Amino acid sequence: MPIADFNDRMLSLGLARVSEAAALASATLIGRGDEKAADQAAVNAMREQLNKLDIAGVVVIGEGERDEAPMLFIGEEVGSGKGPGVDIALDPLEGTTLTAKDMPNALTVIAMGPRGSMLHAPDVYMDKLAIGPGFRDGVVTMDMSPSERVSALAAAKGCSTDDITVCVLERPRHEAMIAELRGTGAAIRLITDGDVAGVMHCAESATTGIDMYMGSGGAPEGVLAAAALKCMGGQMFGKLLFRNDDERGRATKAGITNFDRVYTRDDMVTSDVIFAATGVTDGSLLQGIKREPGFLTAETILMRSKTGSVRRMTYRNPV
Ligand code: FBP
Repeated sequence: MPIADFNDRMLSLGLARVSEAAALASATLIGRGDEKAADQAAVNAMREQLNKLDIAGVVVIGEGERDEAPMLFIGEEVGSGKGPGVDIALDPLEGTTLTAKDMPNALTVIAMGPRGSMLHAPDVYMDKLAIGPGFRDGVVTMDMSPSERVSALAAAKGCSTDDITVCVLERPRHEAMIAELRGTGAAIRLITDGDVAGVMHCAESATTGIDMYMGSGGAPEGVLAAAALKCMGGQMFGKLLFRNDDERGRATKAGITNFDRVYTRDDMVTSDVIFAATGVTDGSLLQGIKREPGFLTAETILMRSKTGSVRRMTYRNPV
């Protein structure tokens, strides 16, 4: 069967509808203390909307392995099957706890590219480092210590280390890194969840105030963040972290052979992709869902890496 070309321009609006649908579905669950229900609502809506697209899609970053996740599992075929063969990376609700607690920056996230365009990252941790656009390649590296990265970025920006803000997930595993960063005088934006948004913040530092992201979080979220930065501009590095043989086994199953590899943004996302994210709760990048009598409003960022186009769209949905 001939496979149609990946027409990123034509498919992009459909992708925005998918992320919007997931966010709208979780709207009534914002601040209700029920992470599972919020996630399930987003998953159901994202899958239903995705299946309306004329694509022969395969989920490569999804809700989990087939035996763990009944819907949007890795390997699930989505779409009508009639269009181009595409790979899909998604997180129907990035920040389930943020949503349940009505805390900032919960998003629905989806990226799409031609087959083989995105790293099949196993569900393990990834050490991440990201900065926004406009710097020479390798101005910060994974080999540098956290304080060296702050100094290098400050030198590149022509500012003092005190003027750098680093975004970090607040976790016990990051305590030593945070202490070292404090020693440089840099400010630290601690987030409780949601490192896709954390990385994306680097690409719009004038608005968000974030210059650099670092620390470990989910590897699937790392690939989604790399897809976003490929569209927005910026550098990102990721290294998979393994705690046991089960996790190494997951990587092997995903086709990974070099466990020590440092992936660049373009190693994680090897060809042009489209990316959409819709705000669920208010954040510095996107407004969350607004509920007014008779309608819901959602804000979506829709991007294409081929052109570097970044659209922000507001959708008013009658209910
Ligand atoms: P969920 O949306 O699944 O709740 O994940 C949120 C998140 O904060 C991610 O953004 C991040 O990559 C990961 O969890 C961090 O994992 P952990 O909570 O184990 O540190």
